[in-house]
Amino acid sequence: MISSQIKIHQKYGGVVPEIASRKHLEVISDVIEEAIKDANITLDDIDAIAVTYAPGLVGALLVGVSTAKALALSLNKPLVGVHHIRGHICANFIEHKDLQPPFVCLVASGGHSHIILVEDYTKFKILGQTRDDAAGEAFDKVARVLGLGYPGGPKIDAEAKKGNADFVSFKQVSFGKDNFDFSFSGIKTGVINYLHNLEQKNEPYNISDIAASFQKSVVEVLSKNLIAAAKKMGVDKIAIAGGVASNSALRSELELQKGKLKLYYPSPVYCTDNAAMIACSGYYEYQNKNFKDMTLNAIPYLSVE
Ligand code: KG4
Ligand code: ZN
Repeated sequence: MISSQIKIHQKYGGVVPEIASRKHLEVISDVIEEAIKDANITLDDIDAIAVTYAPGLVGALLVGVSTAKALALSLNKPLVGVHHIRGHICANFIEHKDLQPPFVCLVASGGHSHIILVEDYTKFKILGQTRDDAAGEAFDKVARVLGLGYPGGPKIDAEAKKGNADFVSFKQVSFGKDNFDFSFSGIKTGVINYLHNLEQKNEPYNISDIAASFQKSVVEVLSKNLIAAAKKMGVDKIAIAGGVASNSALRSELELQKGKLKLYYPSPVYCTDNAAMIACSGYYEYQNKNFKDMTLNAIPYLSVE
């Protein structure tokens, strides 16, 4: 059961926080009811209630947290808090039964870009992160200036397939050997300046070539850092997660590591935000007895560690 708000936010070019939380409130009871029905179970069959409590838009998180607390209290079931990024990483366990920690995971979404050492199912260490924009945010902004609309990632991915990725070289930032941080604002500004320049000179341009060149630059940085971090940690398994993990160029680039590193990624439906990944992370937190009480609150910023 998936209830998506993408169509509602599309006309504003991005997520409007106030609308997001109001829409969550409108649909949450129906979504829970549908999910229980689809799974062919009753609420009594459930062992615990897991909910995303951090990080994210606080209004939207609060709708989930309040609902989960009400369910846990009324059903007398344990309450489990899930970190959104842990959820994204755990999406990999849903379909890959052979995947076990330790491994290094790249989480790239609209709000986050992290390289994380997954030491155990509930133990995570940040190896690198973005110093400015998240990768998905860069995709969304560049798509907007190219007039491709929201959400930008899938639009750029599709447009890039028709273009020449070597048409322009958008400069990447590296923070040196053994530093796995990212910066995407330079690449994004590079695209904007390039377009302004052409527009001022009244020169025509091919959107597909620019989309492909931008995507290549972002994908190269993401892959390079992920592979370097895995080598440094001495692990032979890498995974990707988050909305940007659906990107076809990123997947192809990482597939080149076959033979050297074992690559895992979730199906696209488990890459973008979904409740199955939260349930999966919730399962491991539950096994670890990481329970929350009725004082659980939504937290907008919280480290994954
Ligand atoms: O994980 P997600 O659904 O939500 C957040 O937690 O942010 O990620 C959404 C982000 C958006 O920025 C979207 O443009 C990007 O993931 N995205 C992609 C692709 N599909 C979604 N970026 C690049 N290529 C894609 N195919
Ligand atoms: Zn997400």
